[in-house]
Amino acid sequence: MVGERGESMEIFFYQLFLVGIFLIAFPVPSSSSSSIPVRHFQFNVEWKKVTRLCHTKQLLTVNGEYPGPTIIINEGDNVQVKVTNRVARNTTIHWHGIRQLRTGWADGPAYITQCPIGTGKTYTYNFTVTNQRGTLLWHAHYSWQRASVYGAFIIYPRMPFPFSAPVQAHIPIIFGEWWNADVDAVENEMTLYGGGPNSSDAYTINGLPGPLYPCSIKDTLIQTVERGKTYLLRIINAALNDELFFAVANHTLTVVEIDAVYTKPFTTSAIMIAPGQTTNVLLTANQNPGDSTGMYVMAARPYLTSVFPFDNSTTIGFLKYKTTTGIERNKAPYPPYSLPSNLPPMEDTAFATKFSKQLRSLASVDYPCNVPKEVEKARNNHYWPKLARLSC
Ligand SMILES: *[C@@H]1O[C@H](CO)[C@@H](O)[C@H](O)[C@H]1NC(C)=O
Ligand SMILES: *[C@@H]1O[C@H](CO)[C@@H](O)[C@H](O)[C@H]1NC(C)=O
Ligand SMILES: *[C@@H]1O[C@H](CO)[C@@H](O)[C@H](O)[C@H]1NC(C)=O
Ligand SMILES: *[C@@H]1O[C@H](CO)[C@@H](O)[C@H](O)[C@H]1NC(C)=O
Ligand SMILES: *[C@@H]1O[C@H](CO)[C@@H](O)[C@H](O)[C@H]1NC(C)=O
Repeated sequence: MVGERGESMEIFFYQLFLVGIFLIAFPVPSSSSSSIPVRHFQFNVEWKKVTRLCHTKQLLTVNGEYPGPTIIINEGDNVQVKVTNRVARNTTIHWHGIRQLRTGWADGPAYITQCPIGTGKTYTYNFTVTNQRGTLLWHAHYSWQRASVYGAFIIYPRMPFPFSAPVQAHIPIIFGEWWNADVDAVENEMTLYGGGPNSSDAYTINGLPGPLYPCSIKDTLIQTVERGKTYLLRIINAALNDELFFAVANHTLTVVEIDAVYTKPFTTSAIMIAPGQTTNVLLTANQNPGDSTGMYVMAARPYLTSVFPFDNSTTIGFLKYKTTTGIERNKAPYPPYSLPSNLPPMEDTAFATKFSKQLRSLASVDYPCNVPKEVEKARNNHYWPKLARLSC
């Protein structure tokens, strides 16, 4: 249940530091801005009628997509996202994890680095992605809008990947939460009574809850893979409140990057991922389905970290091996399946601890780990807390 704590820490961080230090502490990028490739995106914040779990409701989206559009850029690109607000609500978009070097005002949190974008208004986020590569996410940063307004932010590296496996395809795997109720009502009720929010009704993978929920068999992610090939899963936890375990039946995952920072690769039976976090893993389709269905369950469920009620359900999708004959055998209703035996139980703190302890930065020549090894006496460290005086 780190979601809210994470967000409020984030806000605290911005308030104290971003406006002050970041503006003064980093040098101007040496290349002139005219030589930097510019990537333009148009985001329309708009309602879209969406049905899940037999509940149809107006969902806040970007460009009518749920999850929202994937941003794909190259390291070093200048990104310009024109956000137009077409709903009778305020909104902003936050580029979660992007270091806004000298562009703090493009960061997105409403009332922290900008006034909200009002109905009918447009705001262009303009920032350059410098010295970062990998998977991040973007999401709305106004009240609980990030419940449905989120998407992947993928930065291709300038240099080749530091791992040798040839990657057949990049597959975004984005976890989210679905409420049958209007999320504004859920948030308002929480604020009114001061307790936790009502639990979500489902977890989703790429917006799809999967067959363990009512009315959801048709809303199931099926990812086709080819035997012998290796895939880069770009896993994003866009759920609001829950740390999740994720595993793929009969397959291991090799972690190579977390939060757009390369790690020393390690192989694991499952991962744990906190809200707002991203994890890149390599998955090799190394099973021999033979006469079996060629379907392997991928599943996510929460790591139980709270005494408050929470959504304890499980979302699943399928990894589906391409058949040599090309004949589709695996349409819904699906063949019998069970949860992956390598999916940790919800109380598995031992797994969570073991997993976290394996994380090491790559610390290679190309990607050094420049952590200060000595504590410097306050030398030229200027802290410039500032208060926004702009009245929104
Ligand atoms: C949007 O934000 C402005 C500025 O903070 C505020 O005055 C207005 O009431 C908000 N509108 C809505 C619909 O919440
Ligand atoms: C974006 O920012 C760059 C450099 O900070 C500036 O040169 C450019 O004019 C800006 N573009 C827009 C559309 O604001
Ligand atoms: C929250 O859950 C309670 C108990 O199930 C229910 O009575 C209430 O209507 C829910 N609130 C919202 C906003 O869905
Ligand atoms: C997957 O692993 C389980 C044990 O966890 C085993 O029973 C099953 O036969 C395996 N399935 C396939 C298709 O290899
Ligand atoms: C999930 O929570 C509900 C209600 O809080 C409880 O009845 C149910 O047994 C729990 N399920 C699991 C798998 O823990």
